[in-house]
Amino acid sequence: MCGIVGIIGGEPVAPLLVDALKRLEYRGYDSAGVATLEDGLLARRRAEGKLVNLEQRLKDDPLDGKIGIGHTRWATHGVPNETNAHPHFSDDVAVVHNGIIENFSELRTELKADGYSFASQTDTEVIAHLVSREIKSGKSPVDAALSAIRRLEGAYALALMFTQEDDLIVGARNGPPLAVGHGEGSMYLGSDAIALAPFTNVITYLEDGDRAVLTSSSLVIYDADGQMVERAQQKSVGTAFLVDKGNHRHFMEKEIHEQPEVISHTLAHYLDFAAGTSNAIDMPFSFADVDRLAISACGTAYYAAHIAKYWFERFARLPVDVDIASEFRYREMPLSKDSIALFVSQSGETADTLASLRYCRSQGVRVGSIVNVRDSTIARESDVVFPTLAGPEIGVASTKAFTCQLSVLAALAVRAARERGKITAEEENQLVRQLSEAPRFANQVLKLEEQIEKISRELAQVRHVLYLGRDTNFPLAMEGALKLKEISYIHAEGYAAGELKHGPIALIDEQMPVIVIAPFDRIFEKTISNMQEVAARGGRIILITDERGAAKTDMDTLETIVVPDVPEIIAPIIHALPVQLLAYFTAVHMGTDVDQPRNLAKSVTVE
Ligand code: G6P
Repeated sequence: MCGIVGIIGGEPVAPLLVDALKRLEYRGYDSAGVATLEDGLLARRRAEGKLVNLEQRLKDDPLDGKIGIGHTRWATHGVPNETNAHPHFSDDVAVVHNGIIENFSELRTELKADGYSFASQTDTEVIAHLVSREIKSGKSPVDAALSAIRRLEGAYALALMFTQEDDLIVGARNGPPLAVGHGEGSMYLGSDAIALAPFTNVITYLEDGDRAVLTSSSLVIYDADGQMVERAQQKSVGTAFLVDKGNHRHFMEKEIHEQPEVISHTLAHYLDFAAGTSNAIDMPFSFADVDRLAISACGTAYYAAHIAKYWFERFARLPVDVDIASEFRYREMPLSKDSIALFVSQSGETADTLASLRYCRSQGVRVGSIVNVRDSTIARESDVVFPTLAGPEIGVASTKAFTCQLSVLAALAVRAARERGKITAEEENQLVRQLSEAPRFANQVLKLEEQIEKISRELAQVRHVLYLGRDTNFPLAMEGALKLKEISYIHAEGYAAGELKHGPIALIDEQMPVIVIAPFDRIFEKTISNMQEVAARGGRIILITDERGAAKTDMDTLETIVVPDVPEIIAPIIHALPVQLLAYFTAVHMGTDVDQPRNLAKSVTVE
């Protein structure tokens, strides 16, 4: 993934580059670096680990240049150390890169044969040498960059800077996003508009294949065919302020606590509570004309999609295919023109989700997206955008974006049910009223924090955890397992409770905590039977249920977390909260980096 930035300013740019990189840290935080021109010569500071290390380096050894590029890394090729940190240099050229150069090995061999030696293990360094070789052959920096870029295969957003060129940055985009920001006598380049928000809100989004030549007062763009093109300037909605943690220890904790409010905002966007209807927004199609939904997403967003499958099929009798986007993009699923393809993504930039969207577009299928970042590429390439109103989510482990995705999907499922004539106006009314109660119940669940914190002390002692659930609680079980492993590094698996006997039951012993998510629903008894099977083998059960469920079971559990009785349609939203809190407190007890867990990034713009 990685985040990149470039600035041509009238003042020393190193602090500005770091400011922008802070906003891009969600894209990776293995190492970071900046380069500027000092008296016309390239100079850089790089540091392994988080941005604070780079800040310290710059404090000890400042840079004064008024033009510069910067990078925050999520390692793909080469371990995350200082040598592999960007910017990479070759004689007169510096480069920062987000993406993967797929033909780097071939290019490396060619460049080595030409006498170039490589300082790093990265794929990126070939770009610097390629451009340098073109300059040596007599080309201007811009021509050299443009012809070198033509040799690259794979995905890239990049920024290049050159010795003695104090008013020139060349950028290029093939896959990962890249935006240009227009200032007064200054020009900016960044992986997203939020990175540039402190400097300008006038943004030109580069399109795939674009190359951009920036000076402090001009921007020239060439498309993939080398034709000069105009791209519109837009006003970005990104906030200039860095979001802070308030009184919370971690962003994740803050974001868990924001859920009652943001769920409420999100639902209010789609539902008319006063009229009791689900058609509060205009839509370019009716679900009555749709014969199939294909939903794809990655990570937590995929589990939201998986839960939604149950809703669309149950309430609207609309068949749903749900796929992990990295599978969907290559599985060549036949899609009819009456299908709708939906993509769920917090960032709106996930490479696999975007590729799946483009596949559907190429098949002539209508495309909708459920995204949290309104300016994102997925949003811009969709026929219809369903925003989640979660606000900026900073913690790498997704929490409030997830429950807001569920809120949008539930509201759309009710709308689909109504438009397809599968529920009456009264039933729609009732479902809308039930959804409107989600924020209140979410608030009540947050009061269980103390109990959940105690339970998580036990979880922090173990190496393996199993999550079980049926129906919508099956994807929620998988989401619970994902949350726990992401931030506490404890191995966890989420399983359909009925599938326990087909394998995972072999894992059960006295050491194994099993978290069972079982509200009192139509298949409660079935899940309880599976729980009995765990208890009979000595497994330690942590039951998450509701008041009715707790009253109906007298089984011995290690702990029972009792949430309020809630209507079926909001149960996954409400039960998500204890699941998130368990992971959160376990990670706190383990002492891990909750908001920036190892090896992960919030936005994944590589395959
Ligand atoms: C990364 C994040 C996950 C997220 C997934 C999909 O893996 O760590 O938290 O669920 O990407 O991201 P998206 O932005 O598409 O929702």
